[in-house]
Amino acid sequence: MDFIRSSVSALILFFYFLGLMVHVAFGDINYSFPEELKRGSVIGNIAKDLGLDVKDLAARKARIDAEGNRKRYCNINPMTGELTVAERLDREGLCGKKASCVIKQELMLENPLELHRVNLNVQDVNDNSPKFEDDVIRIEIRESTFKGARFLLEEAHDADHGQNSVKTYSLQRNDHFVLSVNTNDIGGKYSELVLEKELDREQQQEVTLILTAVDGGTPPRSGTVTIHVTVLDANDNAPVFSQSVYKVSLSENSPVGTVLVTVNATDADEGSNGEVIYALGHISEEEKNIFSLDRKTGTITVIGPIDFEEESTFELRVLAKDASGLTSYSMVMVEITDVNDNEPVIILKSLNSPIPENALPGTEVGIINVQDRDSENNRQLRCSIEQNVPFKLVPSISIKNYYSVVITGDLDREMVSEYDITITATDQGFPPLSSAKTIQLLVADVNDNPPVFEEQTYSAHVKENNKPGSAVCTVAATDPDWRQNGTVVYSLFPSDVNGAPVTSFLSINGDTGVIHAVRSYDYEQFKSFKVLVLARDNGSPPLSNNVTVSVFIMDENDNSPQILYPSPDGNSFMTEMVPKTVHAGSLVSKVIAVDADCGQNAWLSYHIVKATDQGLFTIGVHSGEIKMQRDLSESDNMKQNVIVSVSDNGQPSLSATCVMYLIISDNLAEVPELKDITFDDTNSRLTLYLTVALVTVTTFFLTFVITVLAVRFCHKRKPRLMFDGAVTIPGAYLPPNYADVEGTGTLRSNFNYDAYLTTGSRTSDFKFITSYNESTLPAELTREKTECVTDDLGEQRDITQVRPHILYNFAFVILFYFPL
Ligand SMILES: *[C@@H]1O[C@H](CO)[C@@H](O)[C@H](O)[C@H]1NC(C)=O
Ligand SMILES: *[C@@H]1O[C@H](CO)[C@@H](O)[C@H](O)[C@H]1NC(C)=O
Repeated sequence: MDFIRSSVSALILFFYFLGLMVHVAFGDINYSFPEELKRGSVIGNIAKDLGLDVKDLAARKARIDAEGNRKRYCNINPMTGELTVAERLDREGLCGKKASCVIKQELMLENPLELHRVNLNVQDVNDNSPKFEDDVIRIEIRESTFKGARFLLEEAHDADHGQNSVKTYSLQRNDHFVLSVNTNDIGGKYSELVLEKELDREQQQEVTLILTAVDGGTPPRSGTVTIHVTVLDANDNAPVFSQSVYKVSLSENSPVGTVLVTVNATDADEGSNGEVIYALGHISEEEKNIFSLDRKTGTITVIGPIDFEEESTFELRVLAKDASGLTSYSMVMVEITDVNDNEPVIILKSLNSPIPENALPGTEVGIINVQDRDSENNRQLRCSIEQNVPFKLVPSISIKNYYSVVITGDLDREMVSEYDITITATDQGFPPLSSAKTIQLLVADVNDNPPVFEEQTYSAHVKENNKPGSAVCTVAATDPDWRQNGTVVYSLFPSDVNGAPVTSFLSINGDTGVIHAVRSYDYEQFKSFKVLVLARDNGSPPLSNNVTVSVFIMDENDNSPQILYPSPDGNSFMTEMVPKTVHAGSLVSKVIAVDADCGQNAWLSYHIVKATDQGLFTIGVHSGEIKMQRDLSESDNMKQNVIVSVSDNGQPSLSATCVMYLIISDNLAEVPELKDITFDDTNSRLTLYLTVALVTVTTFFLTFVITVLAVRFCHKRKPRLMFDGAVTIPGAYLPPNYADVEGTGTLRSNFNYDAYLTTGSRTSDFKFITSYNESTLPAELTREKTECVTDDLGEQRDITQVRPHILYNFAFVILFYFPL
């Protein structure tokens, strides 16, 4: 290379020399030669050109001077006359940008002084490359810059001149720029970068290009510079979300502060252009109260209640925005998962309350509906009645979650008048939730209970001679039914008591059940009677029940003893014969008395009040039997009178007295002055007694006949009514109250007896047999009798024992007086 180069240089030099020769021919000597010749290089032979003799040169002290103080660039060789380069001649250094570079030197010769001007015309040589001021050209271009934009580049500088100066530029191939080379007014070349394709900072932040400047020399020289293009950011990128849709599931009831998701968007821009803020876009008020988005971090948190049952999904539009408002959107789809947080709800759809107590098992009394707002298993419900009540739930076949409440057993309002039916519903969640509802079901009354008396039977004990209107007893019946179905009204069942309507004996207060006596009772008339009391409720139809009320009339001592024998008014016709032969202790007579009362009131006791001979007779306190106290003696008076007092045991005691006339004699004939034994006989009295006796006998006879006829008539019906040896008693003779229950005035055949009487009853040795048989007695009579017995406190003489005495006395009277 060097060899070629130097050869080329030598050739150029040769042509310069040719030119130089041409100049020599005129005044001043001009030499043209390329710059940068080596020191000592011969420029030309000045001696020859000036026509000087070489030999003289030395002698004449030929030398080169510069004008003034300027530098000497060339020398003269005195030996050869050649002009040589003394100093480096750099055209650019000497002349700069001047078009021609002539350096003036002088050749001075002495002896004689001779001065020649030598013009050194320094020719340019392409010895400089184009050069840029700096190594690097820094350009900043905003990425948003449009295509076609031009950027002026610094010119390259070439110290060489003319052809050798910068001729053109070239740019390294690249994607974005092309070069546009222009010539300026002064002929210089400059270049511009032209943006051919837009820059993208996000793709390439810097572009490095190499610009080459080439001069026009031969060979050309070039210089390069690095163009450093910094791509400035423009906010040309919107934020970009990491996902276009975020799918999140969130459990309901998540507490406030729960992080739902963090959305992330990035912005490729830098600096503030790349700062992203987040926001929720187009969301409802509700959603605003539930979710909050942190504008810086993109974290969505729960700030409100999450209720699956309200909203099971959310679609939140999230936007990301950079500083200058470039926005992009993403979607957050929130799926709420159910939590078993809703209790089942039991709704009573209908209820037939009250339900009549006679409703049959299987009757539907109500319909319930159960609901649960949760989903899936959390809303699967089980429903039941856990209590021990006669109801069950029957699920509806066709409609889900509907149940009928159905009766399973018998209802009884009187046992349970209302039910609190608790229905429990449980869901299948985990943990399960349950709820309960209590239905109050009333049972309506049906009149299914009759009134029931508190006692099986009632008995009332009423003292005779009671005040009419006094309360006798109280019956009470209860009816558990409701209101009028259980309201009891009492009444007497219409019946007869002793032939009279029951209402003439008793009345009853329909409301209270208090039974009042309507009249005053007489024990001696009847001792007891029965009535039937009805209790009826007010239902429709009414139900009723009845009870027997037995009224027992209790005796009062309202009857004084009645002396049957002897006649109480001291009639001397009733005279007892006492044989003289009787001994002490013998029965001589008997005072017969009755008392219509009962018990103690009829328990009679006998006392001798006064006697002709005090020590002769005694009387049995309770038997009334008069016995000899001692044997008779001759001295004893033939006529003896004994006054006997008969008193009952009632409180207060009632009494009666009678006189017993006794004649001590063996023979009636010995009693001529029978009349005399009376204390104060009068004819009129005798007449009265006779009249009484006659009437009595007549009555007796008539009664006898009637009775016989009646017995005949009734024979077949009442075979037991026998008259074998029976003696009828004239009704008129008996005390008026001493009526038998039958009221016939005759003794019952049950009380028949046999009496053995000796006429005159001298021995008074009589005997009677009660022929009745206990077992043949009607139960009623037995009770009546035993009651009377139990009513009496002490021993008593039964009325049946008295009756033979009465009869005995009648017989005696009849037999005694008839002959008269
Ligand atoms: C009484 O019972 C009847 C049915 O026997 C019924 O219709 C009525 O409602 C009942 N009365 C009351 C007050 O409960
Ligand atoms: C009394 O009650 C009985 C049974 O309770 C009944 O058979 C009878 O008919 C009733 N009598 C009246 C008069 O109601």
